[in-house]
Amino acid sequence: MKTKNTTAKPKMRKSIGTGRAPSTPSLLLMPRLGVNIDHLATLRQLRNTPYPDLLEAARIVETAGAHQITVHLREDRRHIQDLDVKQLRAELKIPMNLEMAAEEEMLRFATRIMPDWACLVPEKRNEVTTEGGLDLAKQKKRIAGAAAKLRKAGIKVSLFIEPSLEAVKLSSEFGADAVEFHTGQFCLASQSALGPRSAAKAKMELERIRKAALLCRKLGMRPHAGHGFDYVNVRPVVELLTEDPGDLQAPLIEEYNIGHAIVCRAAIVGLERAVREMLSAIQAP
Ligand code: PXP
Repeated sequence: MKTKNTTAKPKMRKSIGTGRAPSTPSLLLMPRLGVNIDHLATLRQLRNTPYPDLLEAARIVETAGAHQITVHLREDRRHIQDLDVKQLRAELKIPMNLEMAAEEEMLRFATRIMPDWACLVPEKRNEVTTEGGLDLAKQKKRIAGAAAKLRKAGIKVSLFIEPSLEAVKLSSEFGADAVEFHTGQFCLASQSALGPRSAAKAKMELERIRKAALLCRKLGMRPHAGHGFDYVNVRPVVELLTEDPGDLQAPLIEEYNIGHAIVCRAAIVGLERAVREMLSAIQAP
């Protein structure tokens, strides 16, 4: 019987990109990929099983060429656990980006574990996922204070913010090394970009990201991006380029932190092998 090729590339939706021909950046100018493995931990926590083994997963991520492992230790510990972070930190060679709320308990944990990066995120107990960027204007003391503590300990700090000029300026005042733009609005609009209203919204959001990232670089911070990316909607953002004279081909966004789409894709491309292995397990003499 003919089996379907599950390792085929994901189908491409029509790109809503900038219309530029894809650039061919040199190796040095490639954006970095941080792989967020929270959702593998979600699967494990659902049944409290010893699998999937996060260390094994992270090693695969590392071998596949990702530049960083990203984990979000939530206050409610719904997916990643303290022990996961400790083990990953001890075992992996690639840098760790620890997403965390600007809370005392997390600050203590981070300064013990010493990830390469701490990404400060807003956290609400009942949210399914991080719903928006930090409200820097309202939480100045808390966030600037947390950023200062982390930096003093030798941990680089990024702030998860909406792609707005105001938020970029405040991040710079708070002493951030980088900002990570919450791309949820853009990604949602581009995933449903079949209707004209979503397409217009996606275009507007892309422009917000572009302008905010340009300002971010101008202020000496690194522009990162994450939330909601899939294999198609990441392209228009990747195609945004710097405007520095003599540096025209550099990607504007230096780093992407992507989780859900990768874990979902892994379930599809890995399913055939997983079924075959179970067949062997039950049919082996
Ligand atoms: N970056 C941050 C700061 C996040 O909170 C998340 C979601 O946990 C991501 C990146 C990854 O988002 P996604 O799972 O949608 O790729």
